[in-house]
Amino acid sequence: MRVLVTGGAGYIGSHVVKALGERGHEIAVYDNLSSGNRWAVLYGDLIHAELEDSNVLKSVLVNFKPDAVMHFAAHIIVPESVRNPLKYYLNNTVNTINLLRLMRECNVGLFVFSSTAAVYGIVETAPVPEGAPLHPINPYGTSKMMTESVLADLALADQDFRYTSLRYFNVAGADGSGRIGQAYRESTHLITRSLKTAKGEFPKLEIFGTDYPTPDGTCIRDYIHVDDLADAHILALDYLTGGGGSQVMNCGYGHGYSVRQVVEMAKKVTGVDFRAEDAPRREGDPPELVADSRKLKNMLGWKPGFDDLEYIIKTAWQWERKRS
Ligand code: UFG
Repeated sequence: MRVLVTGGAGYIGSHVVKALGERGHEIAVYDNLSSGNRWAVLYGDLIHAELEDSNVLKSVLVNFKPDAVMHFAAHIIVPESVRNPLKYYLNNTVNTINLLRLMRECNVGLFVFSSTAAVYGIVETAPVPEGAPLHPINPYGTSKMMTESVLADLALADQDFRYTSLRYFNVAGADGSGRIGQAYRESTHLITRSLKTAKGEFPKLEIFGTDYPTPDGTCIRDYIHVDDLADAHILALDYLTGGGGSQVMNCGYGHGYSVRQVVEMAKKVTGVDFRAEDAPRREGDPPELVADSRKLKNMLGWKPGFDDLEYIIKTAWQWERKRS
């Protein structure tokens, strides 16, 4: 298979490129390196270009002739999306629509989309199934939800277009062999932020919100190891190339941990009793997001291998220490 991977130099994209490469697929990575890194691309060629540059994108589609596109290139930081919504709608929604338009002009019909649990907003059920109502509470989630609507309409209208939209829960951890991992310029995610605090890069970790309607008052998330998520992408691609119809699927383990539980585990793994202070709520945070991933397991045969918070944090810690 020839696969074009947008955002393939980023955290999740690079782990999927690794998984694709290990399976012998031919890969072209398209990335503007705004949050990705050249060294993270372990397989295939890197095209350093902007997603909004239709000329370059079209020439890549024409020349590389991918069988499928996997689309990771997006902005992903919830609080930033609250402050700067247009940045999110332009990149996550408009640029994706443009990519789809060019794909169809070039007769590329298979698409794997990076969606998010943030499309659900404040959920009534945990674990949340794919059919739950979508009420995102931040522009990030809305930008992805809008793209999902476009995908559904396109697949209805165009028999030669099929897609899988994977709704990621909280992705964490790093490649077990230590070659790649999370390397954002700005670290806002809980696990990375905790580990960087343990390393002394930050004086303290703030626990955003301690009065949520959860057992210990802090937000609950379903943390999934990035290699298990990468496997889900391989299965989604196989499913589409095998003739499977368009699907939306949650990617998570089906159980969550509170912010306090994650912080405790980060302290245990690092052996550092770093400072963690209660702080006000952060805007745009739903109290609980836990995946009902039965569809991914039953339909695609996904068998997670790393459903273990300690292992997830250990691999992230191994990666963090290597970077210092
Ligand atoms: N948190 C803290 N302190 C920090 C950082 C985070 O208390 O320094 C808390 C947050 O308030 C939240 C939880 O830890 O309650 C998780 O926050 P993250 O920033 O790690 O992740 P988010 O849940 O905001 O978002 C992530 C991805 C999104 C994805 C979402 C799905 O960034 O792309 O998970 O659940 F949509």
